[in-house]
Amino acid sequence: MLALQLACGGWIASAVGAAARLGIADLLDDGPRSAADLAQATSTVAAVLSRVLNLLAAVELFEATPDGRYSNTEHSQALRSGDPHSMRNFCMLAAGEYQAGFGELMHCLETGESAFPKVFGGSVYEYMARTPNAAAVYDRAMDDLTRPVGALLAEMRDWSAGDLAVDVGGGRGTLLKSLLGAAPLLRGLCVDRADVCARATEDLKTETPDLADRLRFVSGDIFGDLPGNGDFYILKNVLHNWNDTSSPKILGALRRAMASKLDARLLVIEPLAAVAAPNTHQAVDDLMQMVICETGTTARNLAQMHNLLEDAGFTVVEVNPMRTGHTLMEAIPTV
Ligand SMILES: C[S@@+](CC[C@H](N)C(=O)[O-])C[C@H]1O[C@@H](n2cnc3c(N)ncnc32)[C@H](O)[C@@H]1O
Repeated sequence: MLALQLACGGWIASAVGAAARLGIADLLDDGPRSAADLAQATSTVAAVLSRVLNLLAAVELFEATPDGRYSNTEHSQALRSGDPHSMRNFCMLAAGEYQAGFGELMHCLETGESAFPKVFGGSVYEYMARTPNAAAVYDRAMDDLTRPVGALLAEMRDWSAGDLAVDVGGGRGTLLKSLLGAAPLLRGLCVDRADVCARATEDLKTETPDLADRLRFVSGDIFGDLPGNGDFYILKNVLHNWNDTSSPKILGALRRAMASKLDARLLVIEPLAAVAAPNTHQAVDDLMQMVICETGTTARNLAQMHNLLEDAGFTVVEVNPMRTGHTLMEAIPTV
């Protein structure tokens, strides 16, 4: 019965989140292992872990072997840390804090307010700022979502034309790392909250030391003063989190930063609202914005994004759909 299956879907999500957190797919890298063995490796209770794995084998995320062990499947590759298409951290975030937020969906329905603050006592970013372990997962969850976009954006335009790309709300600099990898003369400046920049600066030294002399993280406020010397400004999946009161303020901050460099370009990369009936992914994302993000945040269509940019003092010069489902809008300051 579909209703029953869907109503229990949250339990499956919790099992996926637990497997991601425990690193089960990484532990199965070298071949099948028993629940007892995996429980020992993860300091968990074998009787519970075997049930979790049985559930995940039933939905084909893992496979139960005839001798009672478990192995990876094509689907569990997404839970492996090193996989280029890894979604391990996003699965932890989605099945963790976001799902807890969805637990207060009725609050959102009854008041129109975001449910996240009701559960966590503050917005996503207030919570992340005071919860370093969760914030480290959040940062890497954004990596998971952004890696494919970075690879695509690196191919979509000639980055050698400019020498400084500024990613505003750029997290761990995932997008900039892709661009810098493709354009050896390009430098990157990633602006984000102080704790994000501190973690990203440390990780840069160990994870991508070859980029350390061209990529810098600068703590800053997307609503405040932003660096004014960029050739390109990038805003990816940032407006997506803010309502129609806050979003113009973010674009206003960018417009002020670009006031002395009128030949600079702003690249806004967002998943836009579906024109026809949304598919499951789009519908989930749309609802997520209302439940998890700032109160009143909704998906915007192309015309709404256009208006938002024009009202903030930008002229949209190019619009390109991306294979990832995002749309790349390029704008210049209106003079
Ligand atoms: C949805 S994430 C997108 C990250 C990145 N652009 C990407 O697409 O992977 C939003 C980012 O905005 C940052 N952010 C939120 N509020 C901010 C603020 N007031 N000032 C600076 N950064 C902020 C968050 O820390 C987070 O890294």
